[in-house]
Amino acid sequence: MSETIESLLHEARSYPPSPEFVAQANANDPSIYDKAFHDPQGFWESWAKTLHWFQPWNRVCHFEPPVVEWFVGGKLNACYNCVDRHAEGDRANKRAIVFEGEPGDVREITYAELKVEVSKVANALKELGVQKGDRVCIYLPMVPELPITMLACARIGAAHTVVFGGFSADSLAERANDAEAKVIVTADGGWRRGSVVPLKKITDEAFEKHGCETVEKVLVLNRVGEAGGDVNMVEGRDVHWSEIVTRQSEDCPCEVMDSEDLLFILYTSGSTGKPKGITHTTGGYLTGVTATSKLVFDLKEDDLHFCTADCGWITGHSYITYGPLSNGATVLIYEGAPDTPDKDRFWRIIEKHKATILYTAPTAIRTFMKWGAEYPARCDLSSLRLLGSVGEPINPEAWIWYHTNIGAGKCPIVDTWWQTETGAIMITPLPGITATKPGSATHPFPGVHIKVLDDHGNGVEISGPHATNMTRGGYLVIEQPWPSMTRGIYNDPDRYKKTYWSRFPKNYFAGDGVKLDNDGYLWLLGRVDDIMLVAGHNISTMEVESALVDHPAIAEAAVIGKTHDIKGQAIAAFVSLRAGFTGSDALIAEIKGHVGKKIGPIARPDDVFISADLPKTRSGKIMRRLLRDIAEGRALGDTSTLADPTVVASLKDRYETSEG
Ligand code: WT7
Repeated sequence: MSETIESLLHEARSYPPSPEFVAQANANDPSIYDKAFHDPQGFWESWAKTLHWFQPWNRVCHFEPPVVEWFVGGKLNACYNCVDRHAEGDRANKRAIVFEGEPGDVREITYAELKVEVSKVANALKELGVQKGDRVCIYLPMVPELPITMLACARIGAAHTVVFGGFSADSLAERANDAEAKVIVTADGGWRRGSVVPLKKITDEAFEKHGCETVEKVLVLNRVGEAGGDVNMVEGRDVHWSEIVTRQSEDCPCEVMDSEDLLFILYTSGSTGKPKGITHTTGGYLTGVTATSKLVFDLKEDDLHFCTADCGWITGHSYITYGPLSNGATVLIYEGAPDTPDKDRFWRIIEKHKATILYTAPTAIRTFMKWGAEYPARCDLSSLRLLGSVGEPINPEAWIWYHTNIGAGKCPIVDTWWQTETGAIMITPLPGITATKPGSATHPFPGVHIKVLDDHGNGVEISGPHATNMTRGGYLVIEQPWPSMTRGIYNDPDRYKKTYWSRFPKNYFAGDGVKLDNDGYLWLLGRVDDIMLVAGHNISTMEVESALVDHPAIAEAAVIGKTHDIKGQAIAAFVSLRAGFTGSDALIAEIKGHVGKKIGPIARPDDVFISADLPKTRSGKIMRRLLRDIAEGRALGDTSTLADPTVVASLKDRYETSEG
């Protein structure tokens, strides 16, 4: 990525929506911004009213930072809204989910069928002892049973915590333990690049190594069958899906939930080693994802929405499961890798099922660019009418490639900025209103009040999309409450307050840097803390460092995210060894594998550099900034605060020689 932010700000290309798109768009009146800006609560309330409530709220919003409540006193059920109201109405025979497995198996599930499936799983969970208020940990491949189990939990008032199928036994156990999960739902395995990911074996390892004392039962889906080898079932603890779910009644009433009852916990990396259990409640979250799905993706009755995320991430919660299904849309989900059997798999899927919307990540787009335009070119992508991007800043070059080669130059692109914590999209174009600029996420969504603040908390307020201000950069802060905001970190209110609400009191601090250009467009700059964005996923430097020092050969470790053409950031680790160990290629490979095993393959460092010393300040703090300079081949910045300036110079020399 050669573009610097200064050159980005001079990006002059502008892509206004076509008149044809505007004419049919769900949002095409720019006054939506001003109206929502002046009455955000009224704006959100009008969206809450599109949901089905068992009992209306008596207060729209109660906000005493960091405490927030929306639709206070209202009663609803998220599963009822995503499933029953469609199954019992005109959409009964409409497809809710279209699934393609990596081996090529296809399943289509209508809303009526979805209601039956979800109800059976909900009854099975009850039989396994799950009650309203409990937590269920879901560790499944990206198959229909994943969103089905999420919805089943919502139906009976149990909170789910989905753990991405690429995470290790340690990561699974840490999350299940922190959430005090009563049940883990997993599978014999899932397909990835033609191989089986042995989820049940990894689950067993989690129990063996970490106890998982709160977990009473493990429900095991049969996905891969014989290919997965023998599945060990622990007597009294493990239950086969086929034995318990299949025989359940198709009737399962939806629990009446309070608007502020916990819907789910989703773990995300924090700047300490321990992941944060981000909580979301029912009424506000559902309102936020319903509104954004409809307006940002311009969702229509006959759309087929293909979001390539896994339900293990917030994107799969908000824009596969809850947002689109609440709108009664059809979602397309795919289990496996984009290059299996060939590098055109996504394009074949779009061609075959006639997907109309594609929502994916810049890291994937850059991979497709590298593979070459011939792969999408040999498929018919003419069904597509809108493209989306999420996870990290998209560089203009990737944006243009996406626009040209996937969108045939005609599909609007929505570059959507948000976080696990925000629950729903916060900064984004509205495709029927906004003229997009490649690389800019453009403007706050209506009803969202963003500020760009400097270190002293001064800055410009952005009032709606058309504000013009001097170009300036700073921290991204959100001023007014919004319905889908997290209600806190599970069991850790102090950490919540400290992370998000202490830097700029009474304002939500997102942890990202941002610039505002002369036309009032926002340009996201990435994280300002020790969180790396590797292939669009948050990984904390601390988390990887703890995994490194856990290896017997390692004395000390410092981790940085270095700029990477495809992944956005790649992990580079600098380690010093304990006495008695010497560096070798075999040891480096072993260290990389160790991190992959401790956290999961996404956290495996690209580079491990062994050094006798790490650059530290006099107070012993490792200067990561200098390590970044070294890893990215730059001249060293200020070294005057180093305890021993010679360490870093020799480190730089040796790093460059080893790279070359
Ligand atoms: C962080 C949140 C939101 C779902 C996926 C990631 C970065 C996300 C963009 C974007 C620039 C982006 C931010 C944010 N990010 N989308 N369109 N442009 N940066 O969720 O793991 O909670 O990560 O992803 O740095 O803080 P997450």
